[in-house]
Amino acid sequence: MADMQFDLVVIGSGPGGYVAAIRAAQLGLKTACVEMRDTLGGTCLNIGCIPSKALLTASEKYEEAKHGLGGFGVKVAGVELDLPAMMAHKTKVVQSNVEGVQFLFKKNKVARFHGRGVIDAPGVVKVVKPDGSAETLTTKNILIATGSDVMPLPGVTIDEKRIVSSTGALDLEKVPGRLVVIGGGVIGLELGSVWQRLGAQVTVVEFLDRILPGMDAEVSKHAQRILGKQGLSFKLGTKVTGARMNAESVTLTLEPAKGGGETTLEADIVLVAIGRRPYTEGLGLEQAGVALDNRGRIVTDHHFRTNVPGIWAIGDVIAGPMLAHKAEEEGVVAAEVMAGQSGHINYDAIPGVVYTWPEIAAVGRTEEQLKEAGIAYKVGKFPFTANGRARAMQVTEGFVKVLADATTDKLLGAHIIGANAGDMIEELALALEFGASSEDVARTSHAHPTLTEAIKEACLAVDGRPIHI
Ligand code: FAD
Ligand code: NAI
Repeated sequence: MADMQFDLVVIGSGPGGYVAAIRAAQLGLKTACVEMRDTLGGTCLNIGCIPSKALLTASEKYEEAKHGLGGFGVKVAGVELDLPAMMAHKTKVVQSNVEGVQFLFKKNKVARFHGRGVIDAPGVVKVVKPDGSAETLTTKNILIATGSDVMPLPGVTIDEKRIVSSTGALDLEKVPGRLVVIGGGVIGLELGSVWQRLGAQVTVVEFLDRILPGMDAEVSKHAQRILGKQGLSFKLGTKVTGARMNAESVTLTLEPAKGGGETTLEADIVLVAIGRRPYTEGLGLEQAGVALDNRGRIVTDHHFRTNVPGIWAIGDVIAGPMLAHKAEEEGVVAAEVMAGQSGHINYDAIPGVVYTWPEIAAVGRTEEQLKEAGIAYKVGKFPFTANGRARAMQVTEGFVKVLADATTDKLLGAHIIGANAGDMIEELALALEFGASSEDVARTSHAHPTLTEAIKEACLAVDGRPIHI
């Protein structure tokens, strides 16, 4: 029988768990990872970041081939959608990524256990296998990285066929005629964009009076305008109060968020995307005495220790943005602290990206947050219409906006809506991490012609001296 004693048992193999396991193994800890899913990689690799980006890119290619190449003098005829082939592309991408994690586990000698991990006591994890049998692992440390699950909406029961979560929306067998998305957040806009490009008529119903509530308001307003031009329609300030299944369709009942008369909306498919909640079901947290906050998240200190010695937690199951790279950073720090090193995460410099077209990316604070905190700031903005490379690429929509401290010029936040914004934001994340000023970035040489010159110009604009506008 295999040795069942470990220095660390990680429960969950998402970006938080698998990265923590690899880092711990690198540092010499004897490490196991328990995952109940058949494949490794968690939500992100199996049903989240990776499959959604595979479909976003594929649907962009379709859209571009259909409507976007004429302006470059490229004539294309007979463009057709082959949805099963597009889905096969997605499946292949997922498969190669999850197999990659399996390879990395082998390479780093992380022992993998397939089953549900249950904490029997501090230092004891029971693995309940799919066939119902169980084995027990003993360990010095337990790291909970069980992630999150879809937030349900009362009265709109998900069946993953006609009323779907993101998981079902990544796997539809045909393009719906009418897709209604409940929630104008990241999932709603990304997956709404996919199906809109493939031919669905998409309506986004959002409770608040704006989409992307966490983003800088100017950026989210601009995003709504661009997505609206692409064909998405928005019902803001509206709540869904119920769903009735008909033979072929679903009838949703809607009400103004502030109260008022009821209306109905017909859909072929409904996507519920109103957020995610931490997943701690069946983990044995109560018997272990692990404390949760009022939103069901595991409470930790800044080194990811829970209130129970030897039990740690990271990723979507604790507080903070539900992002894969945030979970990864936490996994690395937790493993390093367990191994006796020190670690630190700067939550002010974690970028967030919405992979719509164009992309929307942000790091640091929004104007609204700075106003609320009473911090005096300066704004520098530069539109892609004035960027030579953007014109050459025919991607002139959007702008770069940077926010710098009015007195010290230290960068406090940056927001980009435009082509490749998700890649470009990294320069500004690095700048924030290093405590740079807008002047530092403005004085850094940016290759010409690149889209990143818009970042330099936005930083120049902080002091009213952009060159190209
Ligand atoms: P998870 O990835 O959720 O992994 C947790 C794992 O634990 C799961 O595999 C689960 O099966 C397992 N588990 C749970 N309980 C047990 C148990 N008791 N025993 C054994 N195993 C257990 N983030 C981004 O940064 N960029 C994106 O582009 C992005 N796109 C997304 C798209 C979609 C559609 C969704 C749904 C999410 C997306 N996210 C994205 C969010 C991202 O997926 C999460 O932030 C990330 O996966 C969190 O990682 P984690 O390790 O905390 O948990
Ligand atoms: P979200 O929090 O981004 O958006 C949910 C939206 O639904 C909000 O705008 C909210 O106001 C609205 N809402 C809430 N209740 C509602 C109701 N009853 N009726 C109508 N609207 C309602 O959550 P989403 O899109 O489900 O994504 C979940 C998580 O996954 C996010 O936290 C995000 O960080 C992560 N994710 C990240 C991605 C990325 O980084 N590109 C992509 C997809 C998901």
